[in-house]
Amino acid sequence: MYDIDHFDSHTESSEDEAFSESLSLLPEVTLNFLHTRTMQFMGKMVDYKELRMIYACAMKEAKTKFEVLNTEFNLQYHRNPINSIQTRLKSTASITSKLARLRKPFTIESIKENINDIAGVRVICSYIDDIFMIADAFLRQDDVTLIEKKDYITTPKSNGYRSLHLIIQIPVFLAERRIDMKVEVQIRTIAMDFWASLEHQLHYKNDLEGQAEIAEQLKQCAETISKTDQEMMNIRMKMEAISNTPTEEEMLLEKFSRIDTPIE
Ligand code: GTP
Ligand code: MG
Repeated sequence: MYDIDHFDSHTESSEDEAFSESLSLLPEVTLNFLHTRTMQFMGKMVDYKELRMIYACAMKEAKTKFEVLNTEFNLQYHRNPINSIQTRLKSTASITSKLARLRKPFTIESIKENINDIAGVRVICSYIDDIFMIADAFLRQDDVTLIEKKDYITTPKSNGYRSLHLIIQIPVFLAERRIDMKVEVQIRTIAMDFWASLEHQLHYKNDLEGQAEIAEQLKQCAETISKTDQEMMNIRMKMEAISNTPTEEEMLLEKFSRIDTPIE
């Protein structure tokens, strides 16, 4: 544990003193070399920090796009297709272990090229059809470029996992330049998210004995959830179908009656 007080009042230990002494014995050319290398290392760390900042901005851009779509839909249909949005920036520890797994170096270029999920946006929808409606509206925007799409809803993973995954590229406009950044978007229903968060915990368990049974139970749960998601959507559609289609005038009056409701 870091003891801040101790850290602040740090005085040179005998080890530090010995190190300083041995440094003073080094020839000037070696010292200059060490200094240059240290400066280069610090420069790279600063570049890395800047890269994280740009990924964070790309994440914000993507999140705002989904918020705008939700607001528009709410105004049109008085219903929120998006229940919540979560964002996360991949930790440095996760980045380094993923690069190590891929046997790739820890450089700015390598991070940009090999890791698609530094910026992550998770969109939680109420109904299955909302997922595809929101994804289509998002992908139609001309500054959003689709790089990869994995539809684990139409084709779930063998463990039962369902979600729509998009890897997209989105521009970030800085004072002097535009940079296109990758963002991983996961779109799922509340039920799918509930399932994924429980299943995720299984990856951290080492008790191999009970694991197979839990995995099987989870798979059955995924099927139940899938059916429930489908039924909930059907019920909503039925309710929409039985309510009389309002005339244009009725619609205008209804919208006018809500003219002062706060816009989120
Ligand atoms: P990484 O797992 O990030 O290396 O990506 P990948 O190339 O396997 O891509 P994929 O689109 O399959 O998964 C991306 C992310 O989706 C993962 O990092 C998880 O957050 C989530 N995910 C994928 N599969 C599962 C799963 O079986 N269970 C859970 N809980 N989450 C999953
Ligand atoms: Mg990932």
